[in-house]
Amino acid sequence: MKYIEESYTGGACACPEALRQYFDDGTIDGYERVLSEGKEAVVHVVSKHGSGGKVYYAAKVYKKREERGFKNRADYFVTQNMYKRRAILAIRKKTRFGREVEEAVWQNRETGYLAELLAAGADVPVLVKAGQDSFIMEYLGEGEQRAPQLIEARGEIGDSRGVFARLLENVELFLRCNIVHGDLSPYNVLYHRGRAVVIDFPQASDPRRNPNAQALLLRDIRNLCAFFAKCAVPADPEAIFAEMWHKYQLNVI
Ligand SMILES: Nc1ncnc2c1ncn2[C@@H]1O[C@H](COP(=O)(O)OP(=O)(O)O)[C@@H](O)[C@H]1O
Ligand SMILES: [Mg+2]
Repeated sequence: MKYIEESYTGGACACPEALRQYFDDGTIDGYERVLSEGKEAVVHVVSKHGSGGKVYYAAKVYKKREERGFKNRADYFVTQNMYKRRAILAIRKKTRFGREVEEAVWQNRETGYLAELLAAGADVPVLVKAGQDSFIMEYLGEGEQRAPQLIEARGEIGDSRGVFARLLENVELFLRCNIVHGDLSPYNVLYHRGRAVVIDFPQASDPRRNPNAQALLLRDIRNLCAFFAKCAVPADPEAIFAEMWHKYQLNVI
């Protein structure tokens, strides 16, 4: 009831159906606005009233595969965590079952990674609730003002050297958890209260299963180095990568 009558404040379809589950289970009681619309997901600002006032959260809602364009991810899943033959065959053949399996695995990946990385102490948004087609996480921002992406915050980063060092520590921490982000760039890092917080993990991969993970790690490190070079913090991405990968292989990371 609340969902329809009290929180539906935007224009047509402003509050997606996927968020109903969080109204129903009491995780949230207000819908604010769309924060960002990407190819695969829409991020919304939602809220909950508590004793201390209104608290904002970010809700990431994945698009249905028809909306995000068809992309066969069979190979991706083979090298990832899908080893059930029937499921892989179904994905390859694009059967309905295959699509369902693929969709479910894809959508659970991000919350799985977030939970694991939070437990390991990484700088990622706090996962509030994982649900169907979506999840709720800590909102990074001040009131109406969302935290800027690193690319938008370039002029305001006080301690660029420190932020860069901490980001590299995070990349190392991810690797310790057998996770390579795979799309790490100044667009997927938010700058919040002097801290860099890494977001957007659905494409992350496990180097024990994905032979491309090594190349993806190098690309992630290159992206970060290229950004911080512009902030007058030069670094050698190949050397950083080589050392990190070496430690990972020796199991001393
Ligand atoms: N927890 C959050 N707090 C504030 N803003 C967020 C949060 N998560 C995502 N955003 C905003 O939404 C944008 C898109 O989120 P992201 O997870 O990168 O999805 P995608 O790039 O797949 O669309 C981010 O660049 C950021 O501006
Ligand atoms: Mg993104």
